[in-house]
Amino acid sequence: MFEKFRFLTSGESHGECLTAIIEGLPAGLNIDINFINSELKRRQNGYGRGERMKIESDTVKITSGVRFGKTLGSPLTLTIENKDWTSWQKIMNLAADEYNEEKAFYAYRPGHADYAGSIKYNHKDLRNVLERSSARKTAAEVAVGAVAKLLLKHYGITCSSNVLQIGNGKTEEEFHLEIDKARDAGDTLGGKIEVIFNNLPVGLGSYVHWDRALDGRIAQAVMSIPAIKSVSIGDGDLGAEISGRNFHDEIFIENGEIKRKTNHAGGLEGGMTNGEPLVVKAVMKPIPTLKSPLNTVDSQTMTETTSHFERSDTCAVEACAVVAESRIACVLANEIMLKFPSDYIE
Ligand SMILES: Cc1cc2nc3c(=O)[nH]c(=O)nc-3n(C[C@H](O)[C@H](O)[C@H](O)COP(=O)(O)O)c2cc1C
Repeated sequence: MFEKFRFLTSGESHGECLTAIIEGLPAGLNIDINFINSELKRRQNGYGRGERMKIESDTVKITSGVRFGKTLGSPLTLTIENKDWTSWQKIMNLAADEYNEEKAFYAYRPGHADYAGSIKYNHKDLRNVLERSSARKTAAEVAVGAVAKLLLKHYGITCSSNVLQIGNGKTEEEFHLEIDKARDAGDTLGGKIEVIFNNLPVGLGSYVHWDRALDGRIAQAVMSIPAIKSVSIGDGDLGAEISGRNFHDEIFIENGEIKRKTNHAGGLEGGMTNGEPLVVKAVMKPIPTLKSPLNTVDSQTMTETTSHFERSDTCAVEACAVVAESRIACVLANEIMLKFPSDYIE
């Protein structure tokens, strides 16, 4: 893969902190910490979130790569403390002390990484899988995405997102009713989101190799968000239903400019941006941790039991939309840096 804007994150769900290092930012970019924190807040909000969101209130600390509010061109490091770390220190102990079983669990949680993760990494205590497979790590990704958005803003590119569906609900009022109903039944819900980016230049991405096609890169970035199960570009889902005449976006001229009548393609043709708004849709599955638990098997006793419950969201679709914005912003920041390579911006 071709990478210019890169990042790695680290951190366990109940560890001391989450960390991200971003590489490839030009020097001279204004870094607005308040904006990064407001994005973190957006990720924590939304109807249907669990108790943890009340404890957390994430804020970012920048420990490298910035001086007097501007990037230096060096790697930028972001950290977010886990506010409840103090009560988890003994459980998440880094030292080679005697094993603490207090929060150990052995019943695989259906819909989570527990079963495959415990076999892959040879873990007995499924907490060792939960801690990193948890969506807590998306907080670090949202902080990185906020920096990517600041870079995109410099090029006039803006972004927004909407929740399109939750359960059978299609409006905000119905979303809340659906979530209340699920919560009361000890159940959970997923939903459908859309993310829109405006003012993208024509020709980000490429048709020359499969791994440079922007639709593919975006699909990977969004599909790998925990709980996302399908991704489509524009009205891609309609492609199976409607005819070519109705699907494709006819081109015409208005005041000497190339225009489109529709944007079913969602701003991407041939793996490249075509100047129309980029529209990405995705479906999040229902949260897999249920208060009224699912049937499963205990890995140690090999007997049937019910799934482990730990404080959890009933529905996190609004938060997921913020994560999707962030992931796509990172992909686009990379494309912008490939198209307009620059060591600094003014
Ligand atoms: C923002 C966000 C919040 C989430 N919150 C929870 C949660 O509270 N409880 C839970 O069981 N799963 C939650 N999930 C979903 C799981 O992390 C996810 O289903 C699990 O890691 C398995 O990954 P997969 O569904 O992609 O296979 C959340 C996902 C996102 C994106």
